[in-house]
Amino acid sequence: MTARETPESIVVVLGTRPEIIKFAPVIRECLARDVPFTLVHTGQHYSRELDRVFFEQLDLPAPDVHLDVGSDSHGRQTAAMLEGIEDVLVDVEPDVVLVQGDTNSTLAGALAAAKLNVDVGHVEAGLRSFDREMPEETNRVVVDHVAEYLFTPTEETRLYLEREGVAGQVVVTGNTVVDAVYQYADVAAEKSTVLDDLELSPGEFCLLTAHRAENVDHPDRFRSLLAGVAQFADLTGHEVVYPIHPRAQSRLDEFGVDVPDEIRVIDPLDFLDFLRLESTAALAFTDSGGVQEECCILGTPCVTLRYTTERPETVYVGANCLAGLDPADVVAAGSLMLGKQPDWTIPFGDGRAAERILDALTEVETDTDTAAATVTPTETTATETLQ
Ligand code: UD1
Ligand code: UDP
Repeated sequence: MTARETPESIVVVLGTRPEIIKFAPVIRECLARDVPFTLVHTGQHYSRELDRVFFEQLDLPAPDVHLDVGSDSHGRQTAAMLEGIEDVLVDVEPDVVLVQGDTNSTLAGALAAAKLNVDVGHVEAGLRSFDREMPEETNRVVVDHVAEYLFTPTEETRLYLEREGVAGQVVVTGNTVVDAVYQYADVAAEKSTVLDDLELSPGEFCLLTAHRAENVDHPDRFRSLLAGVAQFADLTGHEVVYPIHPRAQSRLDEFGVDVPDEIRVIDPLDFLDFLRLESTAALAFTDSGGVQEECCILGTPCVTLRYTTERPETVYVGANCLAGLDPADVVAAGSLMLGKQPDWTIPFGDGRAAERILDALTEVETDTDTAAATVTPTETTATETLQ
């Protein structure tokens, strides 16, 4: 085993709900190894239920720096983040800046670092929907091409990066979402009272999340996906629960779109309650990236309300079906997936992605063989149950 110096300092940049959840295992690994880091929150998400609730529940340290950028157009929001992050980096002089995923916060963190010749580590590198109209696709591609370390979840994503000829070092680590789910699924089963609170029985309801700009910013598309899910509910007798993202709620209000009666809209949930619903739902309908992954890990069949996915591994293993937005297709995909046995393998790793990321940053050689796990969802157990 060869070891080099631990980076003198790491800056972790995050700003949205999925980044907080997927960075949590990395932050905990830094704390466990006494690796110093500065946590920068851009403020892209600021509503309590998208932000603070996760810091509290996942027991994360408060951000060292909060930029409070809030919501704005992509250019203005990203520009405000760039300015704030640059100031922090000039001050801290870190060895590496870690960013996660594909949001505007991810892009700003990576660009600010690259412009100062600071190494960028991209957690969840290499995902591609091949749909450049999605703001997330632009963000991912740009970040991967300025990153020094590309922590990629699967062999498939490694191949995308190789094909694009990225300059940085690619390390297949698995996805930190597996670490997070393994660490919290049992705690959720034990502590969450969401089923009782919402008077739901396991296996007798479906979960819906929809918040992506390409869906909810267009009234016809938003109506179409809601109609498909409602028709499926009518056909099968399943109630549908929709913890709604504020972006989607504001679009419903703006467009005057009514949600069909079959769909119960509720406030966004904390992580434990959401995991509990995900793991006990008969089926999930979603346009979220993280929800596609988590359903695959938890053994819940998923129908994706989009025409492309940057998580094709979920489809290859049989855990997910890409339905698009046409109501008839949504009903057909739901019928195909309902009752599907979760006998698929989990393509996103074995729950040790954060360890591999820290090992790579300190150049400790660890085995990467199990980065692509072969366990099935029914065999998964929490490797480190946090009480
Ligand atoms: C962002 C990401 C998206 C990710 C999602 C995770 C980009 C381009 N998009 O989308 O990839 O899937 O986060 O949830 O980075 N709002 C609030 N409270 C908040 C934050 C937002 O009410 O705390 C509302 C505002 O009306 C705002 C809208 O949501 O205008 C959109 O927020 P924004 O940060 O632009 O993008 P998201 O849709 O959250
Ligand atoms: N999530 C949550 N509460 C909710 C909806 C989602 O805790 O009400 C979590 C979910 O478990 C997953 C993450 O939020 O880890 C997904 O985030 P989101 O769908 O906002 O973004 P995406 O993954 O599409 O970028």
